Amino acid sequence: MIVLGIETSCDETAAAICRDGKIISNIVSRQIIHSKFGGVVPELASREHETLLNNVIHQSLSEANIGLQNLDAIAVTQGPGLSGTLLTGICFAKGLGFGLNIPVIPINHLEGHIFANFIAEPSLKPPFICLLVSGGHTQLWHVQEMGNYHLLGETRDDAAGEAFDKGARILGLGYPGGPEIEKAGKGGDPTTIEFPRSLLGNNNLEFSFSGLKTSLLYFMDDFQATKNISKKDVIASYQQAIIDVLVTKVKRAMKMKGVNTCVIAGGVAANKCLRKTLEMDMGDQRIIFPDLSYCTDNGAMISYLGEKKLKFKGYNSLSFGALPNLKLS
Ligand code: KG4
Ligand code: ZN
Repeated sequence: MIVLGIETSCDETAAAICRDGKIISNIVSRQIIHSKFGGVVPELASREHETLLNNVIHQSLSEANIGLQNLDAIAVTQGPGLSGTLLTGICFAKGLGFGLNIPVIPINHLEGHIFANFIAEPSLKPPFICLLVSGGHTQLWHVQEMGNYHLLGETRDDAAGEAFDKGARILGLGYPGGPEIEKAGKGGDPTTIEFPRSLLGNNNLEFSFSGLKTSLLYFMDDFQATKNISKKDVIASYQQAIIDVLVTKVKRAMKMKGVNTCVIAGGVAANKCLRKTLEMDMGDQRIIFPDLSYCTDNGAMISYLGEKKLKFKGYNSLSFGALPNLKLS
């Protein structure tokens, strides 16, 4: 089976082709227009998708060396995400699906992120804990079987990706903040400043990053006066504070649920310090990360999950819309 996946939930215009469980092309066009605003401007993102989608899809087909007539279905992100950007992808998918007379499969973006781990590790089987860490979400899921997701805890305020993005802005770095902080903090001493780690109390599986962000803001107000501290060390310390909380909660969730496999999903999963810390701390427990190209938003996870869903049931309706607040369970 050959499935085209289209992803436009935020500022990545992405398309990929999955053939029989293998990703044979994966094209992502990150919209650079937003970097000067320090965050995504929704209206601009929708317009960019409009401009880029045709080309990105064309490229995904030509890289996979297939034509439109070879497609068995189209999978498209239905939500969560920005309503305007979701609509551009959905309208495109519906038009193409209608023209080709093939099914169009609505996909939950969050479930797509979880499934990116199956691309890396097809032998992965539930039960496992999933740490979903992106620009909009920080959640711990207990995945008892596929399609059966139980939320163990989530953030009360900012998502981990947001903490990276907002922190980067305070530090005078670019957008998106995660890769910028990772690069600028490389080689820095993460123990230099003891930034706060919130909600670490017994059995707590929730997150909070807004205090950490405020603490960085106050610290940077006085930074000029603290001449003996390098900015690299501040950045490394800030990153470490986010990572420590994520790692503590993952380990706690695994222990509480008696599960020895954990998968990491979403853009923050691309962070190499997070990967290294988890690998060092996990002992003989199994930890799985998607390939770096499948961590941040991409069409591969959408096409892969679309093909799986198509095997279980038919899709013959085009009467679905964008669901900006779509939940996982
Ligand atoms: O999953 P994603 O591409 O989009 C959403 O669904 O939100 O995640 C984007 C988030 C951004 O906040 C970005 O700063 C963060 O993932 N991110 C990273 C890294 N790469 C992307 N955070 C930390 N380290 C990275 N290397
Ligand atoms: Zn995402």
